[in-house]
Amino acid sequence: MNKHKPGSICTFLMEKWSKTHMLAEAYILDIGCGKGAIGLQLNPYIAEYIGLDLNLEKEVVNAQKNRKFVCGRGEEMPFANRTFDLLLFSMSWHLMENHWQALQEAKRVLKANGLVSILEVADDNENWKSKKLRKDNPLFDSDVYIHKIRLLQHGAYYLKIQQDFEIVEQQTFGIPVPHEPPAMLKYWTLKPRAQLF
Ligand SMILES: C[S@@+](CC[C@H](N)C(=O)[O-])C[C@H]1O[C@@H](n2cnc3c(N)ncnc32)[C@H](O)[C@@H]1O
Repeated sequence: MNKHKPGSICTFLMEKWSKTHMLAEAYILDIGCGKGAIGLQLNPYIAEYIGLDLNLEKEVVNAQKNRKFVCGRGEEMPFANRTFDLLLFSMSWHLMENHWQALQEAKRVLKANGLVSILEVADDNENWKSKKLRKDNPLFDSDVYIHKIRLLQHGAYYLKIQQDFEIVEQQTFGIPVPHEPPAMLKYWTLKPRAQLF
């Protein structure tokens, strides 16, 4: 069923999600979706993909009419209570300005059996996409680097101390990158401790 490249983020997520959900019936919200690259791959296998981002590029939305994009913040999700089976924060959790509010919203829009998946670049990763973050690149910017590391560490710390969700899974793994060392990522699955709404 899964025809994605072994080792891709999409394959990784589908393997996780298919253990708990029927993917063909799953409603998935991708928070901080960017260009929606994950949705493009997921779309044939799931019931509905919605990409939410505070900064949606018009060209991206127009070019992908078969998928839904909504402009908005993770801290104020413009959706009804109990809409989604799975929520994804891919490389966007550390960018939430208010983690508490984002988790309250996550709890509100999740269905009863819903789960949250969080993927982030590991803070000890050396294989960053951005040249500003690569210590071996002439464009390396130590301020940008320190800021990014702080945001990632703060996001991870918040997950540890929050009480609203149980962390049911946590792992660090590498995604293969051609001709380079693997990009190191961190992954969490969160389950609400109680339905609020
Ligand atoms: C690094 S990109 C990740 C894009 C995509 N999820 C991926 O994995 O390639 C982070 C995205 O999060 C969005 N973002 C940042 N803060 C946000 C917020 N509070 N609510 C919604 N989206 C946010 C940014 O506009 C950006 O598109």
